[in-house]
Amino acid sequence: MRQTLRTSLVVATSLALGTLALAQGEHGLDLSALPQAGTVAPEEGLAAWENIHTVLTHPRCLNCHVGEDNVPLWGTAEAPGRVHGMAINAGNSRIGAEGLSCNACHQTSTRPNTVPHAAPQTGMDWRLAPVEFQWTDRTSAEICAQMRDPDRNGGRDEAGLIEHILHDAELIGFITWSFDPGEGREPAPGSLQQHLEDMAIWTAAGMPCPEG
Ligand code: HEC
Ligand code: HEC
Repeated sequence: MRQTLRTSLVVATSLALGTLALAQGEHGLDLSALPQAGTVAPEEGLAAWENIHTVLTHPRCLNCHVGEDNVPLWGTAEAPGRVHGMAINAGNSRIGAEGLSCNACHQTSTRPNTVPHAAPQTGMDWRLAPVEFQWTDRTSAEICAQMRDPDRNGGRDEAGLIEHILHDAELIGFITWSFDPGEGREPAPGSLQQHLEDMAIWTAAGMPCPEG
């Protein structure tokens, strides 16, 4: 009995330390003001969803979150549906393994993107998002339903969605890049910190979705 208690204390302590390590990790984000689950009213959660939706449907995010034709976009604010030049098709692998692979041009590197019109580089291997995460041609309600469904969001619960952002920030992944895409590209609206806070508010409110 005593042994079990001690073991669970050790486990609890290392979990807490794990969280602390994450909180103080390399992501550079401020986690101190994030709300706890159950402390946010649904209306506030819905307002945060509106901000999240504006980010997700910006070309910086949308260009990779495309449908089953597997064709990445070169969308801009003026021409959101413009498709990738060079006849690129990512195939079912979503990394172009069947043809010309993404990293033939898109390097995996945390160096800043300083050259306009060069293939963007991030700290993660460049690829399309899985087809279940398609956000092109989807309503706000449809995207919201997908985002909160573990069967269609990579098995993530509320904490998992937040964790995903922190992990991305540590690696300088796709979300982090979208807010700081370098020369010649319009950043996603707001900042990574604001997006994290909106996601924390939305998840703490129980992930409410708009009607429709
Ligand atoms: C032959 C080189 C090449 C290959 C291979 C390639 N790309 Fe690109 N990609 C580029 C270049 C160059 C740009 C920047 C174009 C510009 O800004 O005018 C780009 C831009 C993009 C963008 C737009 C980024 C943004 O939001 O502005 C996406 C998305 C993208 N590529 C996805 C992919 C995916 C996914 C693959 C693999 C299936 C891939 N690319 C393979 C050269 C390539
Ligand atoms: C270079 C392509 C690319 C860009 C740009 C991109 N993503 Fe993704 N996204 C991916 C890939 C690949 C995955 C799957 C990997 C994973 O699940 O961790 C993913 C998964 C996700 C997920 C988890 C699954 C889900 O739908 O719930 C979220 C949330 C997400 N991205 C948000 C964003 C946001 C927000 C932006 C813009 C600020 C963005 N992504 C830009 C490629 C991209």
